[in-house]
Amino acid sequence: MTEKDFIPQYLDTSNLQKGKFTWKTPSNIALVKYWGKKEHQIPENTSISFTLDSCHTITTLEFVKKKNENSKFEIYFEGKKKDSFKPKIEIFFDRIKRYCSFVSKFDFVIKSENSFPHSSGIASSASGMSAMALCVMSIEKELNPKITDDYFYKKASFLARLGSGSACRSVKGEIVVWGMHDEIGESSDLYGVEFSDAVHPNFKNYQDTILLVDKGEKQVSSTLGHDLMHGHPFAKNRFQQAEENISKMKAIFKSGSLKDFVNLVESEALTLHAMMMTSNPYFILMKSNTLKIINKIWEYRATTNSNVCFTLDAGANVHLLFPISEKEIIAKFVDMELKQYCQNNHYICDNVGKGAQLTSIDKL
Ligand code: DP6
Repeated sequence: MTEKDFIPQYLDTSNLQKGKFTWKTPSNIALVKYWGKKEHQIPENTSISFTLDSCHTITTLEFVKKKNENSKFEIYFEGKKKDSFKPKIEIFFDRIKRYCSFVSKFDFVIKSENSFPHSSGIASSASGMSAMALCVMSIEKELNPKITDDYFYKKASFLARLGSGSACRSVKGEIVVWGMHDEIGESSDLYGVEFSDAVHPNFKNYQDTILLVDKGEKQVSSTLGHDLMHGHPFAKNRFQQAEENISKMKAIFKSGSLKDFVNLVESEALTLHAMMMTSNPYFILMKSNTLKIINKIWEYRATTNSNVCFTLDAGANVHLLFPISEKEIIAKFVDMELKQYCQNNHYICDNVGKGAQLTSIDKL
């Protein structure tokens, strides 16, 4: 599908006065990372992620037909008015208006909450923006009930991408690919698609324990980070490597090789951070406890048969990935050896989930 396919014909709003929709949308963790984008939120390389289950956002979008031309919206986060979130939402509304012109006919109240603590250093833009996109699509479906599920979810992912790139991977499916790739059927730079090739049972119900090393605000916004890939001395090679890594990941999912999975995922995480360290300005987002955890994981693997590995996003927290067969033993390892490196011993146990869910519809 092309960008133009997401511009609907005129939708009549005269029969829709007000209502509200609630979506529960997941966070995701990238295995092959998105780092670097072109204009209009187009990624420089293909990325692939596991959808998470426990780390999610619940967002209600209330809409009322506008009384005058001024646009109005309010945001509440965990019960409190949150004007500091407004600029990001304003940008989102502005970017989607070409595709959802009906939004200009309504005033909105957005009420959102996360399952994970806001000050956990876990990025909430993926789940937050996918929730917004799905709520907007629920309004579109009200106005045009004929749209197919396929169009609904593709366009939701397309809109989510305009809010935050990685959010387009937080709509549908356990494993999601974003970015055009020759070996991934239907893949697109415009939206995420469910990975539909073979997945070995080793990867069913994969586990992710998030070790909260640093709960502070992000030191570098992702948008600034992506910008640093423009003119980066290693950018071209990195983007090419990511495409090759997608092919490798596809083969790993098929074969079930956990050893190869561990190797690829850790290499991707360290490459992401290497890009930050070698950009200008440069950043080190790992903390000393991040490194202590990584070394503990390597030591543990060297002395056991474990297939536990780590990945990182643009911060100091460590995602510990492992097959469900190691759930009990890794819980002990975390408790005995790793939680001491987490802020207030805090960590979150998660696993791969299926994607977003519409939890309530209220047409008033
Ligand atoms: C390191 O999706 O947060 O988590 O498109 O500017 O909102 P924007 O960036 P964002 O970047 C996420 C980067 C990452 C890797 C990944 O999730 O693929």
